[in-house]
Amino acid sequence: MFRPFSWPALALLCVVSVPAAAQTRQETLLTTDWKFTKGDVPEASQPDFKDAKWQTVSVPHDWAIYGPFDGNNDLQTVKIEQNQEQKATQKAGRTGGLPFIGTGWYRRQLTVPSFGPGKRAVLLFDGAMSDAHVFVNGKEVGAWPYGYNSFSCDITDALRPDGRNVLAVRLRNQPEASRWYPGAGLYRNVHLVVTQDVHVPVWGTYLTTPEINANSAKVKLRTKVETPGIAAQSLRLETEIRDAAGQVVATTTTTLAPPSGQEFEQNLVVPKPQLWSPETPVLYSASSKLYSGDVLKDEYRTSFGIRSFRFEANKGFSLNGQPRKFKGVCNHHDLGPLGAAVNTAALRRQLTLLKDLGCDAIRTTHNMPAPELVTLCDEMGFMLIVESFDEWKKPKVKNGYSQYFDAWSEKDLVNMVHHYRNNPSVIMWSIGNEVPDQWAPGGVAIAQRLQDIVHREDPTRPVTAGMDQFDAAVGNGFAALLDVPGFNYKPSRYPEARAKLPQGFMLGSETASTVSSRGVYKFPVELAKQKKYPDNQSSSYDLEACVWSQTPDEEFVQQDALPYLMGEFVWTGFDYLGEPTPYDEAWPSHSSYFGIMDLAGLPKDRYYLYRSRWNTASPTLHLLPHWTWPGREGQTTPVYCYTNYPSAELFVNGVSQGRQSKAPSDKLQTQFRLMWNDVKYAPGSIKVVAYDAAGKAVAEEEVRTAGQPHHLRLVADHNRLTADGQDLAYITARVEDAQGNLCPNATNQVQFTVRGQGRFRAVANGDATSLELFHQPRMHAFHGQLVATVQATTQAGSVEVKATAKGLPGAVLKLETGSASAPK
Ligand code: GAL
Repeated sequence: MFRPFSWPALALLCVVSVPAAAQTRQETLLTTDWKFTKGDVPEASQPDFKDAKWQTVSVPHDWAIYGPFDGNNDLQTVKIEQNQEQKATQKAGRTGGLPFIGTGWYRRQLTVPSFGPGKRAVLLFDGAMSDAHVFVNGKEVGAWPYGYNSFSCDITDALRPDGRNVLAVRLRNQPEASRWYPGAGLYRNVHLVVTQDVHVPVWGTYLTTPEINANSAKVKLRTKVETPGIAAQSLRLETEIRDAAGQVVATTTTTLAPPSGQEFEQNLVVPKPQLWSPETPVLYSASSKLYSGDVLKDEYRTSFGIRSFRFEANKGFSLNGQPRKFKGVCNHHDLGPLGAAVNTAALRRQLTLLKDLGCDAIRTTHNMPAPELVTLCDEMGFMLIVESFDEWKKPKVKNGYSQYFDAWSEKDLVNMVHHYRNNPSVIMWSIGNEVPDQWAPGGVAIAQRLQDIVHREDPTRPVTAGMDQFDAAVGNGFAALLDVPGFNYKPSRYPEARAKLPQGFMLGSETASTVSSRGVYKFPVELAKQKKYPDNQSSSYDLEACVWSQTPDEEFVQQDALPYLMGEFVWTGFDYLGEPTPYDEAWPSHSSYFGIMDLAGLPKDRYYLYRSRWNTASPTLHLLPHWTWPGREGQTTPVYCYTNYPSAELFVNGVSQGRQSKAPSDKLQTQFRLMWNDVKYAPGSIKVVAYDAAGKAVAEEEVRTAGQPHHLRLVADHNRLTADGQDLAYITARVEDAQGNLCPNATNQVQFTVRGQGRFRAVANGDATSLELFHQPRMHAFHGQLVATVQATTQAGSVEVKATAKGLPGAVLKLETGSASAPK
């Protein structure tokens, strides 16, 4: 059983820091006291600029998530070639309908702790959206165009001796630069790192585990050292490896005498290694002390895991010797109502939900992830494909990455690989998604160049790419050169790819793209492509997809049949802002319909379909649709059951509708879903009794017709928060009838009030068509539910969350906040 509360203790292990007393390295997160303005103010780079009237914000910050939503914010007249469109049409909301386009400035006083002669200072940006220009005391110290990548700037020479420093950052988002909501601003963390002159630079270690067996694991640690401006002296690196319990399990000391270079190589042996896997995410850490002569100059910690994997022709993928298929999802980076502003607790909640789903892998589509996500995947056990680009030289959108590709692609790949090559969760690197260069002249050479760069920086992991242009990519050598061919939405062509490609294995790098809206069911129930309804919603019978995409079942059948197919990455785990297909032209709609979970993080029915295949540890038995259909009496209302039991009997008001078993039929879906297609609606209840393989009745699930809304109920994902100013609780408000049944059609507006040591942060209901703002403490329920996010303050204490709705008794929920070690 997955226990989310065991993670915070591990999280502490992974922080790169040392006791302040050692004064070797100090790392500070620059979170508070930023000033921000939208619009271009070139003079703001200067230290004496007056910014008192600007807004005070804390970072991570997404300037656009506060809205308002407006289809005019991101109008695009485009022909989306990837979607097989034949002519250009006007799209609204393609990038979320939020006001992220334009320039913004951030400024902050910069106090550099214990800075002085012989010290170095570096700013590390985890990501800045986008086209960042960084100024310290009026001097430009760095620039990085790609908003998703991490980059660092050495600011030592720009700092003033009197310690009064000003940091300013200019960011600019161009129109038509993205296919989804990118966010805006300093949406990821900014770190200030102060070291001695002799130090390990940013991402300065590279740790691999070249040989692993039951008795021992060889660990090879390469550590770079920088000694700017000082005469070379003898350097010594003392390294100790600790296991997850903090016990030292290996040590070594290496000296480096000039002029033999500036990189240490250390080889250590860990006895009886505990292997990292999604089920056993065991982490080790290597702590190194760097001495120049007898003086301790730096201390650096590298968190790592010990695991091996293989990709073998005809056999596919194995981790630690065990064959397995990726049960993966693709995710964009936004966190729904929080926008792009990264928050560890929000990511942990997503991963907690994905664990319950049985998911074990994530593809970080279509860009570099936040470091918090990678760290959590190490700790909680998810395998990652870390992706870099959505386009290369040939554009998909007018002002996309193609404008930077020639000058920046190598630098972007190098930073990505250096940042994450010690993380055990990272299994593959992706050099691109559906890049139009798949079929353009020169595209194959670009693919080779990018793959070579990645191999040069990390020869231990394979390179993949998501391909959609099957004929071109298989025909021209593009697919053949990749370490791991990844196909997007091509389940029927895997056997052909197997016959034509040399690798002997492949991946469903992007699958399904089924569309649905939580709680919405359309009649008659039928398989459909690109189906649109007047309410801009999609049906949750999970039979609707796009012209290029499929129902989940079409992928399942191939995954089960083909041993060389190494799993799938479903598009997507969570709904995201932007790309409201099939309603790209039908504002209002600001978010996707592809998610297994909606924008509020609430599971759609599809959650249980995937869970019934992926979560092998606990049973799934889920019925759809809801059973509150006034006016449908006597009409055909199909009932589906998503379950990992082989068969079940359905009862409507106690009357059997027969027993169904998963089995092939003329409908593909019957292999994966139990379906009663002729059920006539009558109010009351539907109930399934599930049978195990031996034919024994083992479980039941019932859905009742709901009465009128009677009260609100609040349910928190956890009741105890860390009082760190960042931790979040997700509180689902349900509109229920007198018996506690969810009222599946309720749209009541719910108002939230938060008192005590917490504050209201955001609310979402998963309705893609809603224009209500996420940061206002009120929103309408969508199909009876919505989710409020409450953020802890830095003071321990209690939090009271109150929800009210006109005509219904309010509900109150109490949360506690306390120290980091408190169980969640
Ligand atoms: C794919 C693309 C994704 C998303 C998806 C929607 O072709 O790679 O980014 O657009 O389609 O189905």
